[in-house]
Amino acid sequence: MLNLAPEHYTSRDIHARDVKRIFATTWQLVGPAEQVSERGDYVATEIAGLKVFVVRTRDGLKGYRNVCRHRGARLLPEGSGRCATIRCPYHQWVWGDDGSLLHVPWWGDDTDFRKDDWSLAPISVAVWRGLLFAAVEPQEPLEAQLGGLIGELADEPIERYAPYRCEKLVFDANWKLYTDNFVEGYHIPGIHPGFHQAIEFERFETTACEGYVRMTAPPREGLFYRGKWLWMWPNWTLSLFDGGMNTSRINPIDHRSTELIYWFWFEDLSPEHAGRRAKTIEENLAVIREDFEVCVETQKNYETEAYAPGPLSPRHEQGVAYFQNRLREAAG
Ligand code: FES
Ligand SMILES: [Fe+2]
Repeated sequence: MLNLAPEHYTSRDIHARDVKRIFATTWQLVGPAEQVSERGDYVATEIAGLKVFVVRTRDGLKGYRNVCRHRGARLLPEGSGRCATIRCPYHQWVWGDDGSLLHVPWWGDDTDFRKDDWSLAPISVAVWRGLLFAAVEPQEPLEAQLGGLIGELADEPIERYAPYRCEKLVFDANWKLYTDNFVEGYHIPGIHPGFHQAIEFERFETTACEGYVRMTAPPREGLFYRGKWLWMWPNWTLSLFDGGMNTSRINPIDHRSTELIYWFWFEDLSPEHAGRRAKTIEENLAVIREDFEVCVETQKNYETEAYAPGPLSPRHEQGVAYFQNRLREAAG
C-alpha cells in the first residue's frame, strides 16, 4: 500500500471535511472523569476547534456546545472549574446546568421572545473506566468505537491510576502526519536512539486491531515504559509505564498545527515519590518531543509538492495502513 497523498495533510478543504466527518462524529477523550465529580464541576475544551463543555449536574453529566445562543460568544474558558449557572461573559445571559435559559438582562419589550427557544445546544457525554469522553454528533455508542480496546485493557487496573499532571504540546504539522508517526515503531532507531537502546527493537511488533493499533516491544533494564503503546481511532493514545500510564488526545488546531493533550497517571501519589514521578514524566516528554522535528519538516515537504506517495512497510507500517484506511472509509 502507498502512503496517503500529500494534499491530505496540507489542504484546508480536506481539513474542514475531517472536522465534519471525523471530529464532529466520533467520541473524543476529554480527560479524567474525576475533574467533573462534584455538582457544578465543568471542563471546557476544543475538539478540532469545536468548543464544548461538560458539567456535572443533579442529573448526572451533561455536555453542551460552548457557544452562546445570543451572538455566539464562548461561555466558559477552556480548562476546568466550578459554576453554579452558566453566564455568558458578553451580554450576561444565564443558563441553568440543564441547558435552559434562565435570565436575559436589559432585554427590553419583546412579546415574541421566549426563553424556551434559546436553550444550550446539547452534545453527548460518556465515561469509560475513569476516562471522560464527549461527542458532538456521535454515529455510534462509545463502546462500539472503542472496539477491541475494551478486551485489550480488561486486565490492566487503570482505575487505580490517578490523574497527576496535564501537559499540552503544540507543533506545526497536520494531525494525520503526527498520527502516521505514532502508529509505527519503524522510526525508533532513527529518531529515538536512547529509546532504541532501551527496547529489544528486533522484537517490536505492530498489530492493527478492531478500532486500535497495538505496539509492543520487550523493554530492557532501566526503561520506564512497560513495552506497550496503544493508539485508538481516531485520535487518542494510551501507553503503560511503571506504576501508571499516560493518555493523550491528538487535537488539530488547524490544517497545519496540532496540540497533544497529555495526562500522566500514577498509582502512587505519595509525596516521597514526587521525584520519581517527575523523572518519569520528563523522560516521557523527552521521547514525545523527539518526534516533532521530523513531523514539522515532513509537513513542509508535503506542502511543496516535492513528495509523491511512497510504499508502506508490511513489517512495520501496518498501523499506518490501518489508520489511513479508516480515513478513506470516513471520507466515504
Ligand atoms: S453573546 Fe452571549 S449574551 Fe450576547
Ligand atoms: Fe516517535
